[in-house]
Amino acid sequence: MCGIVGYAGPNDTVEALLNGLRRLEYRGYDSAGVAVIDDTGGVSVRKKSGKLVNLEDLLKASPLEAAGTGIGHTRWATHGGPTDVNAHPHLGDDGRLAVIHNGIVENFAELRDEVTSRGAELLSETDTEVVAVLLGLETASGKDLETAFREVVQRLHGTFTLLAMHQSEPGKIVAARHHSPLVVGLGEGENFLGFDVAAFVSSTRRAVVVNEDNIAIITPDSVRITDFTGAEVDFEEYEVEWDAGAADKGGWSSFMAKEINEQPEAIANTIRGRIVDGHVEIPELTALGEDRLKEIDRIIIVACGTASYAGMVGSYAIEQWARIPVEVQLSHEFRYRDPVLTDRTMVISVSQSGETMDTLMAVKYAIERGVTTVSVCNTQSATIPRESDAAVYTHAGPEVAVASTKAFVAQITALYLLGLHLGRVRGTLSAEDEAAAVEQFETLPEKMAEAVATHEQIAQLAHWMADTRSVLFLGRHVGYPAALEGALKLKEIAYIHAEGFAAGELKHGPIALIDHGQPVFVLVPSPRTSPLMHSKVVSNIQEIRARGARVIAIVEKGDTAVLPFADDVVRIPLTDALFDPILQVVPLQWFALELSTAKGLDVDQPRNLAKSVTVE
Ligand code: AGP
Repeated sequence: MCGIVGYAGPNDTVEALLNGLRRLEYRGYDSAGVAVIDDTGGVSVRKKSGKLVNLEDLLKASPLEAAGTGIGHTRWATHGGPTDVNAHPHLGDDGRLAVIHNGIVENFAELRDEVTSRGAELLSETDTEVVAVLLGLETASGKDLETAFREVVQRLHGTFTLLAMHQSEPGKIVAARHHSPLVVGLGEGENFLGFDVAAFVSSTRRAVVVNEDNIAIITPDSVRITDFTGAEVDFEEYEVEWDAGAADKGGWSSFMAKEINEQPEAIANTIRGRIVDGHVEIPELTALGEDRLKEIDRIIIVACGTASYAGMVGSYAIEQWARIPVEVQLSHEFRYRDPVLTDRTMVISVSQSGETMDTLMAVKYAIERGVTTVSVCNTQSATIPRESDAAVYTHAGPEVAVASTKAFVAQITALYLLGLHLGRVRGTLSAEDEAAAVEQFETLPEKMAEAVATHEQIAQLAHWMADTRSVLFLGRHVGYPAALEGALKLKEIAYIHAEGFAAGELKHGPIALIDHGQPVFVLVPSPRTSPLMHSKVVSNIQEIRARGARVIAIVEKGDTAVLPFADDVVRIPLTDALFDPILQVVPLQWFALELSTAKGLDVDQPRNLAKSVTVE
């Protein structure tokens, strides 16, 4: 959802902006544009609806001669459709200044009335142009860019990462954030601004996170940060962990294929350093204090989409090991239900990006009510982990494809580690359960590699099922959220109708959907470690088979009970039932990818979707 890049320096400005925008493409967008201070000292803009390649073609046809300062944007439409005119940057002060923006200006109608009553004409339907014009009215009245910018951002309601530059102060970019992220990249004789570090990581790994309600002012040689009143703010730089190569496709057909293949390593990285002498120890939780962890009497996991399914899987394990009631709520529903929260509640947010606005708002709501907040997050120094009392990073590496894969399995892994840590500290975890879980973790990356190797079998299956119009997914216990995740993957990237159900729920309604040839994936629990659930799921398979379903069973190796009733059997390595979904989801990820590919769709950037949803 909107990519933002700023560059001040001596190198090729247009290339620096395009390079940043390419690396932010994963965020999802429907138009793109750049503005530079050109070699005549004026502001020049090129912008185009559609993918970045359209902007690149425009720049070839009509090149920009940049003099070293520029801003670039990929827009995910909110106010006004994805047209050339609505694309950012937007201009003010008779074309002397340019602005780009992520977020929503909620009081834009009121500001639009003000600027039009002051004689301004608006060309687009966007809230951003209103801000650009308002800022232009201020600079035109004689204020310098910083002063005018400070005054304008204080008047904005809503959410924004906002960048502006003016031809009267070439070499300078001002940038503000309010409930939307902003990072500065520190180079040698050049500096960058970005929505996240991907915008500049190929040029520098030295970064500074701009705090909430702060303004960054960059030139090629300087970086200053102030608050909205103009008071100088100290800042600290940090070294970005992800290298530039980690965000490249590296020879794979898509980022999603690469990221599915990276899952063994992602899981190993999540576990690394967190098992010490046979015990799970998460230092970030230890820092909260044992007493605080012992007092917790309720956990609420808040998350959206795939992360919420990871939260659902995690809730079973945390409850089992730590004996604390755990519920999962969609972040965007959480605060509207006026939840019962006390100082003994822990809110755990799960978010790959750490910037999902719905989840951020849920976390802020929890913080305001004095509960303990823990963030399970993949992105270093993102807003949610920084706002929370403790951050448990998944260390899965950058996830670029819109469809989440390695982040999902890493989130479940992190939640399981968290459950084991809580169980140990609270004395509810038996030595046998801890030893069994630790043993599972030790072999999990290897087993994940075997699950990834189901690709070929799934590719054939998908080939035969290329015309499928609807697919159902069934699971029980931790298999239920994994079934929901399998369905979401198919909807997201193959645009195929799909539903996930708890297997036991089938007879209460959804079985009416089963018709001759209806494909149903069934996630079968381990018969060794969960014999009762296994037998129930085998009965469910017989029920749907009897009604004509085409059954594709995901089973543990050696499970022969389903053979008479399944059309296809996909085998995953032996594991304990709680760990099943981490492996079972992999063939479902491949299935979605293969069907998307067979339909000729863009696997990594499906229509209408953004990687991180930074508006509510
Ligand atoms: C998953 O494939 C989706 N892209 C989406 O459901 C995603 O998981 C959700 O928007 C939450 O994102 P987050 O983990 O960055 O908070």
